[in-house]
Amino acid sequence: METMGSLRRTNMCGELTISDIGKEIVLMGWVQKRRSLGGLIFVDLRDITGLIQIVFDVDYSKEAFEKAEGLRSEYVIVAKGKVFERQSKNLEMATGEIEVYIDELRILDTAQTPPIYIKDNDDVSEQMRLKYRFLDLRKPEMQKNLLIRSKTSKVIRDFLYDNGFNEIETPFLTKPTPEGARDYLVPSRVNPGKFYALPQSPQLFKQLLMVSGMNKYFQIVRCFRDEDLRANRQPEFTQVDLEMSFVDVEDIISLNEKLIKKIFKEIKNVDIQLPIKRMSYEVAMDKYGSDKPDLRFGYELNNISEIFKDSEFNAFKSTIENGGIIKCVKIDGACEEFSKKGISKLEKFVKTYGAKGLAWFKYENEAFESPIAKFLSEKEISDLINKLQVKDKDIVFIIADKESVVNTALGALRIEIAQDKNLIDNNIFELVWITDFPLFEYSEEENRYVAKHHPFTAPVDEDIEKLESNPGEVRAKAYDIVINGDEIGGGSIRINNSELQSRMFKALGFTEEEANEKFGFLLEAFKYGVPPHGGIAYGLDRFMMLLTESDNIRDVIAFPKTQSATCLMTDAPAIATEKQLQELGIDIIE
Ligand code: AMO
Ligand code: AMP
Repeated sequence: METMGSLRRTNMCGELTISDIGKEIVLMGWVQKRRSLGGLIFVDLRDITGLIQIVFDVDYSKEAFEKAEGLRSEYVIVAKGKVFERQSKNLEMATGEIEVYIDELRILDTAQTPPIYIKDNDDVSEQMRLKYRFLDLRKPEMQKNLLIRSKTSKVIRDFLYDNGFNEIETPFLTKPTPEGARDYLVPSRVNPGKFYALPQSPQLFKQLLMVSGMNKYFQIVRCFRDEDLRANRQPEFTQVDLEMSFVDVEDIISLNEKLIKKIFKEIKNVDIQLPIKRMSYEVAMDKYGSDKPDLRFGYELNNISEIFKDSEFNAFKSTIENGGIIKCVKIDGACEEFSKKGISKLEKFVKTYGAKGLAWFKYENEAFESPIAKFLSEKEISDLINKLQVKDKDIVFIIADKESVVNTALGALRIEIAQDKNLIDNNIFELVWITDFPLFEYSEEENRYVAKHHPFTAPVDEDIEKLESNPGEVRAKAYDIVINGDEIGGGSIRINNSELQSRMFKALGFTEEEANEKFGFLLEAFKYGVPPHGGIAYGLDRFMMLLTESDNIRDVIAFPKTQSATCLMTDAPAIATEKQLQELGIDIIE
């Protein structure tokens, strides 16, 4: 094998242009492709900036030509030569107007035939891509994603530094934090039987930094959550986490709007209009069945419970009697697009969200067609048509159930239909702040109120008095930023007073001992002068999915985990040795 010797790279492959013609240059990179044509060998040479065609001509340099006969895909080479205008230009290639005639070739490393092609959109399985991630990351699309991510981090850092934020690290080996997922635990060898929890977020530490007087904190930080993984979740993911002192909701929102605007401008050259739209949690749930509504299309939900309060139709009647609701979504002018078969597919779809059925009606040539028509009175039908302003060829889908099921199922249905109808445009960005979240959420499982965000979220001032008497109605000073139906970030103003914090713990059903055991250090800190403070955390991976137009969170992370939280490249998690387990005092029960 050869070395670079005294040769040093003068140019990057993808950056060469027609203005470089005549220059003597040195390139380094990987062989993408080699073609032989008699006394000529053409090689596409690749580095992170792209491809350039290099030429070995037996008449230009016999020595280089002969060596080039041995080149194979993915060999790593140094090639010295001169830039020429290309005879037959390839305008599909960024550097397709030029080529480089080589007079010196050094082969720095050979390569076996790679198990996956180094090109975008090859149809190899994702498993193979993840197993050979180091090769997968050679693909232009993947490199582009990582570069956009790197640039985004810089834009964020620059903005936050310019606005007086300090970047401070917080520990990974820590006590459980309160974001509500399961913790990843790390056993302590020197403290047998004890465990660290990897942080679900730096929430408590960033609040303590405010107690310390650090004023404005940020960190681009890994968080760890052992939860069921879905398309946009990873067990370890990255937050852009920030916290500010002496602020209220408006201060945080207005600073973050400027940050969001800057990211969209610099990364996508898209102008976001400020202020960003706002919608209360209540309105979002009512109109879209979701606290992360996709506003790129209409299809708002409508509550029609009132019309069916005396319904003869059993499903509606029993729903109302049991305190449930009836909602619907109208798809304008589209009744011919929904066959019986298509509708029955949609019914199966909503059943995966717990719905018991999917009623529907079509309205065409003033005729009302529905499988439940015979159960409906004239008045119910005319009230429906009036309330929903039904027009010719509309179709309406109806679900009756308890509120949470209706919202989840119809919320998902409106998106499913919009997707089927190709209404979702990834070049449009619809941003909305969701505000006025409830502070608590009733957990049927635990039979008590739990924090909707986390137990340090401050209640809206005028709702504090309802903390004990009517917890379900207390609103939080919390906000989420939702973009195209995805929760990209969320935060809140925090409680900064130990008395209110104790009331909050009590409302959540913690005894004083439990609160002290879990969060004693925070309660202790709260005795010594706490500024009003609040912040937000963005899910950077989700933000990157939007900015790179990826529909897979793994495509924006260099070394991601699978849906079952494994790394196919390193084979993590792995079995520990007997000795390690012994040292940790851990027995594995099969
Ligand atoms: P929250 O729990 O809402 O807030 O998290 C903030 C953002 O992180 C992203 N996110 C995830 N991304 C990928 N994979 C996951 N498993 C995952 N879980 C969450 C989401 C979410 O909006 N400490 C608070 C923030 C605060 O109050 O300041 C917190 O962690 O985009
Ligand atoms: P059934 O009488 O159960 O056969 O239902 C008649 C129609 O009403 C079918 O189209 C069902 O999908 C629909 N349906 C049944 N239960 C519900 C419900 N809870 N909400 C909406 N539609 C329902």
